[in-house]
Parts: sequence; C-alpha cells; structure tokens
Amino acid sequence: MLNVALPKGRLGERVYAMFDRAGFSCPQLLENTRKLIFENEECAVRYFWVKPSDVAIYVERGAADIGVAGKDILLEYTPDVYELLDLKTGRCKMAVAAPVGFRDDPRRTLRVATKFTNIARDYYLKMGREIDIVHLNGSIEIAPILGLTDVIVDIVETGKTLKENNLEVTQDIVPISARLIANKSGYKFKNSEIMRLVAGLSEQLSKGEAE
Ligand code: PRP
Repeated sequence: MLNVALPKGRLGERVYAMFDRAGFSCPQLLENTRKLIFENEECAVRYFWVKPSDVAIYVERGAADIGVAGKDILLEYTPDVYELLDLKTGRCKMAVAAPVGFRDDPRRTLRVATKFTNIARDYYLKMGREIDIVHLNGSIEIAPILGLTDVIVDIVETGKTLKENNLEVTQDIVPISARLIANKSGYKFKNSEIMRLVAGLSEQLSKGEAE
C-alpha cells in the first residue's frame, strides 16, 4: 500500500487527477465528504487530505510514503525528504513587496513581515541587508499598510492581493511550484511503486498535461 499525503484544496484535486491518470486512482476521494482518508485496495493506494503546510511533516516522519508540497514549504522548513519531481503546477513566486512608491533607506534596519522567516532571513543575509523580522501567520499584506513593517516577503500568485492593497513587488526571490516528495526509507522499500508513479507523472509532464 502506497500512502500519499495530498494538500487539501484545489491544488490537491489537480494533483490527484495526475495520480489518477498515472494508475493510482481512488474515485471516492473527490466525493464531497469530510472524510480525510481514502483507500483503493485494487490500486494499492491510500490517500490522506492534510493541510498543505503539513504534508512535508507527514512524509518526513514516514506517516506518508510520498506527498505533494510547495517549494516554499521545502525551502522554509528543509524537511529531510527526497524531492522527486517538479509537478509544474501550483505555480507562484516568493517575492518582496512594499507600498507603491516605497524607497528603501539602506541606513535604517528594514522591517520585514512574513510567514517565511527562514526564506526572508537567507535572502537578506545574502544581500548583506540588516533586517528586523516580524513573524505573522496570514494576511501579511496588512503589515506595511498599518506601519507594522516596511515590506513583506510573501507568496504572489496573480498579484491581485497586492494590487487591491496598494502594494507592489519590489524584488522576486524564487519561483515556486508543487513538488513530489518521498520519505527516505519509504523510497527504498516501496521503490517499484514509487517509480511507477514517477514514470506516470513524468509522462504527463512531458506531454504538458499537468495544468
Ligand atoms: C497567499 C499569499 C497572498 C495571496 C497571494 O495567501 O499569502 O496573500 O495568497 O495570491 P494572489 O497574488 O493571487 O493575490 P493565502 O490565500 O494562502 O492565505 P494567507 O493570508 O493565510 O497566507
């Protein structure tokens, strides 16, 4: 049985469609219930819906053999897992954003609000820029509007949230997309199933069927 942690939500549903085409189907998964675990014995697969930011924890600790996590989570928490494939979906970017017209004064410590404190710290360390990080859990965009910080480091997908709050991207940090990850010992012991899945997904990716 291959245990798969999928991110709950639209991305997870899109990714499941790819797993389905790769031969790991479990039709009940898309039924509108509040159930979180689904199994298809015929295909020897068991799926769990988990919070997107928790997928890597399930995989790292072996509760799931494989999972799908955003590159943002992998960069921020550096879980001890194998990253097997870029699934080329869930694409967005990590960026610095500030109120329109903001000018950085390099003589002052830059105040940065973010959920991604490690990514932000690494980015500014490489730039040699002194910062003061304010860790927030959501609605990051509000911080510079209220004067809590000067800028934010956050995920930008369509750019709509920034625009509607009169903010703009000032620097791109890194492109983000969904990645297939594997538990290190699961990868060894369930290698043939995992390789069959990887081959099925790779074929779709090469045909551009992912999105
Ligand atoms: C993310 C991110 C931005 C928004 C960007 O938030 O933190 O707020 O999406 O998307 P856009 O560029 O398409 O507008 P999310 O919805 O994950 O919620 P959060 O506020 O809890 O981070």
